[in-house]
Amino acid sequence: TVDNNRLDHLMEERLPDHIITLFQNIGQLADEANVKVYVVGGFVRDLLLGVNNLDIDLVVEGDGIAFATRLARFLRARLRVHEKFGTAMILWEDQKIDVATARREFYQHPAALPQVEASNLRQDLYRRDFTINALALQLNLPSFGYLVDFFSGRKDLDQGLIRVLYNLSFVEDPTRIIRAIRFEQRYDFTMEVETLEFAHEAISRKMIGEVSHERMFDELLLILQEKNPVPALRRVTEMNLWDYFLPDLEWSERLERELTTLTELYQEVKDRELVPLETRWMPYFLILTKHMKPEGVKLAIDRYPLKMWIREAIVELASTNEQTGLLMEQSLQYGKLSDLDKLFQGWSIEAFLALRASYALPKTVELLEAWHIIKKCKTIITGKELKEMGIKPGPHYKTLLNQMRWDRLDGIVQSYEEELEHLRELLFELGFVSKD
Ligand code: CTP
Repeated sequence: TVDNNRLDHLMEERLPDHIITLFQNIGQLADEANVKVYVVGGFVRDLLLGVNNLDIDLVVEGDGIAFATRLARFLRARLRVHEKFGTAMILWEDQKIDVATARREFYQHPAALPQVEASNLRQDLYRRDFTINALALQLNLPSFGYLVDFFSGRKDLDQGLIRVLYNLSFVEDPTRIIRAIRFEQRYDFTMEVETLEFAHEAISRKMIGEVSHERMFDELLLILQEKNPVPALRRVTEMNLWDYFLPDLEWSERLERELTTLTELYQEVKDRELVPLETRWMPYFLILTKHMKPEGVKLAIDRYPLKMWIREAIVELASTNEQTGLLMEQSLQYGKLSDLDKLFQGWSIEAFLALRASYALPKTVELLEAWHIIKKCKTIITGKELKEMGIKPGPHYKTLLNQMRWDRLDGIVQSYEEELEHLRELLFELGFVSKD
């Protein structure tokens, strides 16, 4: 007979070899240290779903920090300890491993950050958000790959249900409502009936309003970092939750279309390094703010910890229209990269993408490629050389260097000699020197 709770075959099938070996090593170390160690949370959920996820969270029944220290030494990996929380983080090559002491959490008052107390696996899992996230995989060798499922999480995974573990879950942590929406839309699941009722109840009690702006921004960010955030955003609209993110936002078909276009653009770009993965959420955010009135945008800017360049991009984008996009199009068509550079000098690639998506402009991938050529293009002669040539520094340095760069971009100048030659002509034209 097959033991359904043993996942070692599934692991073998779905996980890279080095992870299996890592887990076996962890199991052996755990046996030696006489503690029980489990992989928990999203990793186990995604293993069962067949989704790639290599974020490893370990829970130790026993001293988590001591075990993490031992494991880090074994792996010769870097270790960071958070004494106060009984947790540690191991950085082993590119792999992050979070280690926690099994704990019980309790909340001093609703929506507060939890207090922590050492405990066992069951209590540790019980304090979590949903049954599908409360699965654990034992690593100790005698029971290697044994699935610990106290709350029928596996059944909910099979049935596609998001279910809380206890009635007050959303009251204690209202951000879980947003998480529920995110998981539901990511896996095409639904909230189990009672869970949905709890969510509505917490919403009507305005519990989400108790959460800090920073935490709400993090939740919005997590949505925008989903592979396709649009369904979750639509659900935020349906559940009438925009007030807690961007109070002024009015969802419309047009907005939805623009966001969807951006998702499609990303599919076209795939993992190519044309757009940095870390900031792919930003054009979504920019499109959202583009659909808000200036007062609402101001509110969002005041409320959220946005970096300066993001604030600038919001303003930049607000001042664009279809024409801006078309101008870019033309400069690409006529092969003059210099025109393109003049048009979006100082623009971030994120603002640029938001603009393209907003007006559903074609050839964006080509434009992104051109963008990278432009960003990389440098003149050989720099300000230092200009100075050495005895040209007095001033604002004309920028004019000169820009012009030389544009000539390089348009292929007029290709070598150092040509650049130098061209510089002489420019200096003459601008009246800096006589012809010889
Ligand atoms: N968790 C929770 N309540 C929250 C946030 C997190 O109970 N408000 C728990 C969840 O059980 C989750 C674990 O903490 O499994 C780790 O959180 P996180 O890394 O955010 O979740 P993942 O499930 O890994 O989600 P993702 O796939 O989006 O990374």
